[in-house]
Amino acid sequence: MSYESINWDKLGFDYIKTDKRFLSHWRDGAWQKGTLTEDNVLHISEGSTALHYGQQCFEGLKAYRCKDGSINLFRPDQNAMRMQRSCGRLLMPQVPTEDFIEACKEVVRANERFIPPYGSGGALYLRPFVIGVGDNIGVRTAPEFIFSIFCIPVGAYFKGGLKPHNFLISGYDRAAPNGTGAAKVGGNYAASLMPGSEAKKANFADCIYLDPQTHSKIEEVGSANFFAITHDNEFVTPKSPSVLPGITRLSLIDLAQSRLGLKVIEGDVFIDNLKDFKEAGACGTAAVITPIGSITYKDEPHVFYSETDVGPITQKLYNELTGVQSGDIEAPAGWIVKV
Ligand code: PLP
Ligand code: COI
Repeated sequence: MSYESINWDKLGFDYIKTDKRFLSHWRDGAWQKGTLTEDNVLHISEGSTALHYGQQCFEGLKAYRCKDGSINLFRPDQNAMRMQRSCGRLLMPQVPTEDFIEACKEVVRANERFIPPYGSGGALYLRPFVIGVGDNIGVRTAPEFIFSIFCIPVGAYFKGGLKPHNFLISGYDRAAPNGTGAAKVGGNYAASLMPGSEAKKANFADCIYLDPQTHSKIEEVGSANFFAITHDNEFVTPKSPSVLPGITRLSLIDLAQSRLGLKVIEGDVFIDNLKDFKEAGACGTAAVITPIGSITYKDEPHVFYSETDVGPITQKLYNELTGVQSGDIEAPAGWIVKV
């Protein structure tokens, strides 16, 4: 798609080649100074560990155009730290937080024309990643690595934005009990492709995974975290070592407590106790807040607030989160980095 054909009000979540991307190599024990390049094709060894053994991780964060024309990055330090943890888990070299944030800023500035306008509901999605490259064949860590960031203008990940979507409980696991669920690594997403595709074929937005140990507790959506609101207005979200520690989830925990005055519970969400909740949602950088209309488990749908309308607390959380991200509402200290 060309720049001229972008319809800013109708953006989905699709790859568009933007002007520039950041590229840096790790060689001889250190990250080389990165550069911006127009080339969106990587030339890597056929023996790269990223291709054979899944030695790679990625991140997702957004840059927002504000009303006054300035540009906000939302909690990039958290993405930098999560990527360091993912790299640590897969024996890859870590990118220092300041270098990660600086590279994000460079990519945003070089692609400024692709930032969706304020009020369009879109944002510039940044996709940082680290991959193991270089000649190799044994199952071991790579001799060289690439750290890169590209960006694309995006709108809603789940079509229709703040409209309830229906989800299916999967019989598959995306992660193992002591596996890599908490790291943002490609293998977890590879494992989710078939279950996700089966759910979509059956007309669900995506599937929700149960805990891999007992299959009795909700963990997360394949591309977002899960939260629910009890009849007593408590904000509940699963706590598990195999769930990805989402930055949107972390932010909602804070905003629910400090701005909406809700009690927050991080704990078990048993699939047999869905009747305890009046609202539910999926939250993530791409998903933002997507209301969950219903969850189907063993062929039985459980409807939350409504299959057509967003619940009032989910709506308030959405307003607060998106208001903070786009600069309309004051952010907690340190959450916004100006580009
Ligand atoms: N869980 C999974 C599996 C994800 O892919 C994502 C998206 O990044 C999330 C949760 C939410 O994380 P975040 O809010 O940091 O985007
Ligand atoms: C994100 O929200 O950044 C994600 O990574 C979700 C999905 C596109 C994989």
